Amino acid sequence: MSTSVAPLSMTQNDHTPTTKPARELAVIILAAGKGTRMKSNLPKVLHKIAGVPMIGHIIQTAEHIGAKKIITVIAPDMDDVAAVAVPHDTVIQAQQLGTGHAIKTAVEKLGNFNGDVVVMLGDVPLVRPATLKALIDHHRVGKFGTTILAMAPPNPTGYGRVFQNPDGTLKEIVEEKDASDEQRLVKLVGSGLAVYDGEGLIDYLNQLRNNNAQKEYYMGDIPVIMAQTGRASGVIRGDYLELRGVNSRAQLAELETAWQQRKRAEIMDGGVTLLDPATVYFSPDTTIESDVTIGPNVVFGPAVHIKTGAEIKAFCHIEGAVIESGASIGPFARLRPSTTIGQDAKIGNFVEVKNSDIKIGAKANHLGYIGDAVLGAHSNFGCGAITVNYDGKTKSKTIIGDYVMVGSNSALIAPITIEDGAYVAAGSTLTHNVPKDALAIARARQETLEDKGKGRLKRHD
Ligand code: UD1
Ligand code: CA
Repeated sequence: MSTSVAPLSMTQNDHTPTTKPARELAVIILAAGKGTRMKSNLPKVLHKIAGVPMIGHIIQTAEHIGAKKIITVIAPDMDDVAAVAVPHDTVIQAQQLGTGHAIKTAVEKLGNFNGDVVVMLGDVPLVRPATLKALIDHHRVGKFGTTILAMAPPNPTGYGRVFQNPDGTLKEIVEEKDASDEQRLVKLVGSGLAVYDGEGLIDYLNQLRNNNAQKEYYMGDIPVIMAQTGRASGVIRGDYLELRGVNSRAQLAELETAWQQRKRAEIMDGGVTLLDPATVYFSPDTTIESDVTIGPNVVFGPAVHIKTGAEIKAFCHIEGAVIESGASIGPFARLRPSTTIGQDAKIGNFVEVKNSDIKIGAKANHLGYIGDAVLGAHSNFGCGAITVNYDGKTKSKTIIGDYVMVGSNSALIAPITIEDGAYVAAGSTLTHNVPKDALAIARARQETLEDKGKGRLKRHD
């Protein structure tokens, strides 16, 4: 964040006591563009960062800044984008005539709104609420018609160049395709994020013209029209790393890395050890308590919570799981949704657990599948054992009590209950319940035929 943003965020905000009530806020998200440079059948804003569509990140940020209304502008064939935006409104821009036209479409839907209108782009997903608040504060303090968030990327190609008046107010934005060679040398560009005074905004939008290289109605022309009526516009600078957009798959990958780096820093700041941070991937809702250690190459899908003192060893894939204190997972373990791993429990290498409750101190250390099951406290699920939870049509439950030993390479055909203290002999295929403290053996007896093995293996000596 550049210096012009940080101090501004402290000058005034919605919580500053004033005699006037805080102005209302609406957010318009532009997402109707086809995103042709992604070469995808999927609308650009549905491409994901940290497993969440870009538009989801943006809506969450808009909610964070206390917007009274959030309207997303979509194209006619974008029902799936509208579905992600729910419960917020969407408005259809019948033809993609440019960013200024998109704003106009949304402002028409917004009706008479005299508060401030923030415009966000559907392909700029990393912007933080604090940055938007600094933008709004600068706008309100300066009583501007509009205030834009500018940035200085290492390479400005493709962005609209920003020109300021001697007093620092905004003069104009010149799109790449309309810029002269000299104008293209300018490093300061528009992020596409801006805030507008809602009062009379529709009148300015109605004056937009498309007499430019792309024959589009540009949002960047709004400040020029405002200046004609004597309204000044503001500029503040943000960090390119936060405000850059996604126009291609390579940029999507860059932003994924940037998002992950931000989350890794946050997680480590909370007292978590990451042995090799660059190889650990999080979801937005991953929560990890202090003194958890995470090895290299671990992926966290949605809805994971890990409690203090647990350890996740290398190469685990974990989603939809609560991991209690002192539990140990991996290396090479897979936890799937609706799973709880109890205190001090152990899930070892090549064990998959789905929709199951592993109780305190239970262990499944090697090569197994536990699905739709309860593994009771201090029970041991032997190497290669599996719950047979699916018969091709229905899923059934396996209930294993406390202090049960499930011998190696057993198959427990569900529905089945193995009561407390029972012992399942290795290699058993169980189809019936086992009562408390019983020993169950379900395998063919061994036959040993004297000398019949002799000469069956070709010898070389
Ligand atoms: C735009 C800006 C540029 C800025 C850059 C920042 C314009 C003309 N250009 O360029 O100044 O530096 O963003 O990333 O404003 N959209 C619609 N309807 C339309 C056209 C676009 O909803 O008719 C949406 C797109 O879905 C996208 C956003 O507006 O989310 C920006 O459009 P895009 O085509 O990506 O603009 P850029 O060329 O990146
Ligand atoms: Ca863009």
